[in-house]
Amino acid sequence: MCGIVGYVGKRSAQDVLLDGLTKLEYRGYDSAGVALALEGGIRVVKSKGRLTALEEKLRQAQLAPSSCGIGHTRWATHGEPSDVNSHPHSTPEVSIVHNGIIENYGSLKEMLSARGYTFESETDTEVLVKLIDSCYQGDPLKALMEALAKVRGSYALAVLFRDHPDTIFAVRRESPLIVGYGEGENFVASDIPALLKYTQKYSVLEEGDIVVCKAEGLSFYNEFGEPVQRAVLTADWDIEAAEKGGYPHFMLKEINEQPAAITATVSPRVEDGMPVLRVPELTDEALRKIGRVHLVACGTAMHAGMVGKAAIEALARVPAEVDIASEFRYRDPILSPEDLVIIISQSGETSDTLAALKLAKSRGVPVLAIVNVVGSSIARAADYVMYTYAGPEIAVASTKAYMVQMCVLYLFALRLAYARGRLTEAETRRYTARLQDAAEIIKPRLADCEYIKYLASLFMNTQSCFFIGRGFDYSLSLEGSLKLKEISYVHSDAYAAGELKHGTISLVTDGVPVIALATQKSVYEKTLSNAKETKSRGAKVILFTTKDTVVPEGIADYIVRLDEYEDIFMPLQLIVPLQLFAYYMAVLRGCDVDKPRNLAKSVTVE
Ligand code: F6R
Repeated sequence: MCGIVGYVGKRSAQDVLLDGLTKLEYRGYDSAGVALALEGGIRVVKSKGRLTALEEKLRQAQLAPSSCGIGHTRWATHGEPSDVNSHPHSTPEVSIVHNGIIENYGSLKEMLSARGYTFESETDTEVLVKLIDSCYQGDPLKALMEALAKVRGSYALAVLFRDHPDTIFAVRRESPLIVGYGEGENFVASDIPALLKYTQKYSVLEEGDIVVCKAEGLSFYNEFGEPVQRAVLTADWDIEAAEKGGYPHFMLKEINEQPAAITATVSPRVEDGMPVLRVPELTDEALRKIGRVHLVACGTAMHAGMVGKAAIEALARVPAEVDIASEFRYRDPILSPEDLVIIISQSGETSDTLAALKLAKSRGVPVLAIVNVVGSSIARAADYVMYTYAGPEIAVASTKAYMVQMCVLYLFALRLAYARGRLTEAETRRYTARLQDAAEIIKPRLADCEYIKYLASLFMNTQSCFFIGRGFDYSLSLEGSLKLKEISYVHSDAYAAGELKHGTISLVTDGVPVIALATQKSVYEKTLSNAKETKSRGAKVILFTTKDTVVPEGIADYIVRLDEYEDIFMPLQLIVPLQLFAYYMAVLRGCDVDKPRNLAKSVTVE
């Protein structure tokens, strides 16, 4: 959603804030702003547009040096992106940056208007700063507690008070916020990449926490104003992991990091050739008792869930359902205490996914979270966690996180199948060894990027295209199509290959690209005939299949060949050229690959 940074210490706050905002720009990039504590009051500079627009304004403003300030990069929820709607929002006494949504801002606004406050923006955040201002009588902690007691919604806040120019107040409720520890300096941020240049030591704020952040130290208070202690964690991501490292875009770097991410995620979970979950409660006995698995997530993570469902059902013969989190949370799902809910999330902060998790827990169903960000809200709220070790994923379009989500789900499916006697030990070992091979199997697909780029150059001007496939290939069609549309803005739809002729085939006319995925031996002939049906109507067919598949004349215009591999693990190989196709289409169309329009990396609102 939005990105928050705060800095207090011996360096130039302006420089540290801008640097931190650069690292958080993936969280939102509609507008950006900073508030700096200066002699004579708080100075706010903000601007619609990318961070460069703010940098230019700051250059022109030539502010005196400040050692304490807060900054924000925004993904608009209330009010269009504009200078006036940008954060920080301020009164002469208080300035705040906010991530989240104040649900009752309408009634609070009426109450404040009656008390003489006027409003210039359309944002809920302006209401919040004026509410804090109205409660402020010299004691910031008291004012924050009094104001926040009146607020309904989610927020992470960093707050500056004019008469406390050496202090940042940081508050968290249902939106992520961390503080970082330096030597004679301290930091506030939405996410770890903003801190990594300065420190790897950080604490995660708990729900309702208020932190008083000064250069010489941090004091934590719970929502009742009682002093509390919070654990100090060490980030195992280094600064290079959060930089482009010579690649033109984070997305390309992250696509190429997939072999390493697979090894980092799978290796620690293979012991003596057998898959191990490393969740003490999920013993083989517990796995034997599971009645049904519900996989719940959003977007790309949900697509990983679809691969997980197919693997769980195929290998372990345990019924599995996939749900979109925003549907699951409101559809009164049928759950039983013997079930297991698997929540999948890269960020661990997606609002709908977190709500789905809480619903499952409230029904007494155990929840396993597959999460990339350590200490994130979802990781902390779940009963059990299996971390994916993708490292920081900065590009908005998820690639390496999806890859390792699938790997963890495969490991889970293998252990489940073994525990339930559906796979023998020898079969389990064989599959596990093949899964471990995935890092090597996908390397040639990364190397094939020139051919994929060539295909993208042929189709870069297309208006619309279709992905088709069956079984695992259908799940991959959905993900390939999502990748393409989100970053290249080409309209694209994915269909189960047999479904196209039930309506959508009427859209297939001369030259429309149809990307046919046919990697599953049991059904590839069926998919080839579906591809042929589109070809007969003028489609340009790009077929993704394996090296040994015989493709009759007249079915495909272009063929992308994959190495032979277990059908069940084929998604790990197939996704790579699909990611690269989306990437090169976006690059050739001149799109902002890492920061596509209207999107944000972590969606912490409904
Ligand atoms: C698409 C993409 C999104 C996310 C979705 C869930 O490339 O990244 O569809 O997968 O917003 O996010 P997480 O995994 O952070 O819960």
